[in-house]
Amino acid sequence: MNEKEIVLSGIRATGNLHLGNYYGALRNFVKMQDDYDCLYFIADLHALTTNPDPAALHENVKNILAEYLAAGVDPDKANIFVQSDVPEISEMYLLLNMHVGIGELLRTTSFKDKARKQLGISSNDDKDIESQVIGSESNKRVNAGLLTYPTLMAVDILIQKAHKVPVGKDQEQHLELTRRFARRFNSFYNVDIFPEPENFNFGHNAVKVPGLDGSGKMGKSEGNCIYLVDEEKVLRKKVMRAVTDEGPKEPGQPISEPVQNLLTLMELTTAPEIVQSYRDAYADCSIRYGDMKKQLAEDILKVTTPIRERYKEIRADEAYIGKVVRQGAERARERASKTLEEVRKAMGIIRFY
Ligand code: TYM
Repeated sequence: MNEKEIVLSGIRATGNLHLGNYYGALRNFVKMQDDYDCLYFIADLHALTTNPDPAALHENVKNILAEYLAAGVDPDKANIFVQSDVPEISEMYLLLNMHVGIGELLRTTSFKDKARKQLGISSNDDKDIESQVIGSESNKRVNAGLLTYPTLMAVDILIQKAHKVPVGKDQEQHLELTRRFARRFNSFYNVDIFPEPENFNFGHNAVKVPGLDGSGKMGKSEGNCIYLVDEEKVLRKKVMRAVTDEGPKEPGQPISEPVQNLLTLMELTTAPEIVQSYRDAYADCSIRYGDMKKQLAEDILKVTTPIRERYKEIRADEAYIGKVVRQGAERARERASKTLEEVRKAMGIIRFY
């Protein structure tokens, strides 16, 4: 087991999983579990950065665990755990923060996006957001946990000494920061504790799954998602209502963004020759969006239906879910505590007893 490269990834406990989570992350979790030493977790501490309702948070942890298992993550092959069950992560988060610059955190795209939302700012002016964060009143604050989100994510990865991290395109900046923090720590203390992790996606570049609303990525807070556990009727309705355009007016005209988004979804779910036939139909102005959407809904259902069915069974068996994560936490803690000892020693935090 130990010679295999280490893979680690996680998903925030903020709601059910959608096709973006599946194609950006979860599908790779399943594919990698035979060839790598894999650890997959539920990021409940990261979910706290947006102050969820406590009862909803715990439900979400259980839902996502059941979704991992339903999608095919096998607890006998991969190690599945909940982030907060590994307290070593929280301790190392404090230690690593001593080497992270406030400026580099303030400049992180995901921070700026979320801070803007929390403060209700629509402006795209970066300077504006930094000064607004610092000057915001206490009743409209951006919490420090959100700012240090990348430190916590880096610790998740570094504490397990992971080499590969299967995540979607939106997480690439966080991974870049993780590599920078790893290099910085190693060189500051003249140690070789952390490898530099890289993103991983089978045979392709990192994936960005678009939403159904014509622009941008599929995201839980965007209201443009297809969830893995959507019932058939709901799913069909969502796809049939997806934004398109008024139809091509001239042969060979460039494909509009909303239609390209549907084709991108099709490329993930549908046979390549069928996708090509719709591209050709756009080019010669014979495309019928109703047919295209029916096809897309059908192909998405082929992926999601077996997951939804297994999900229902697994979700109902909380004793099983509990057993999986108990076993997962033990193994994750074993490794995390070894790394934490190395980190403490490098920093001069030496135990007397
Ligand atoms: P989260 O919960 O936002 O998303 C989980 C995973 O789903 C991917 N994803 C997408 N991929 C493609 N297209 C989309 N539209 C799309 N939407 C979401 C994300 O890229 C991610 O892989 N910070 C992480 C959680 C995390 C983590 C970690 C991941 C915490 N610690 C350590 C890896 C390693 C996050 O917010 O994911």
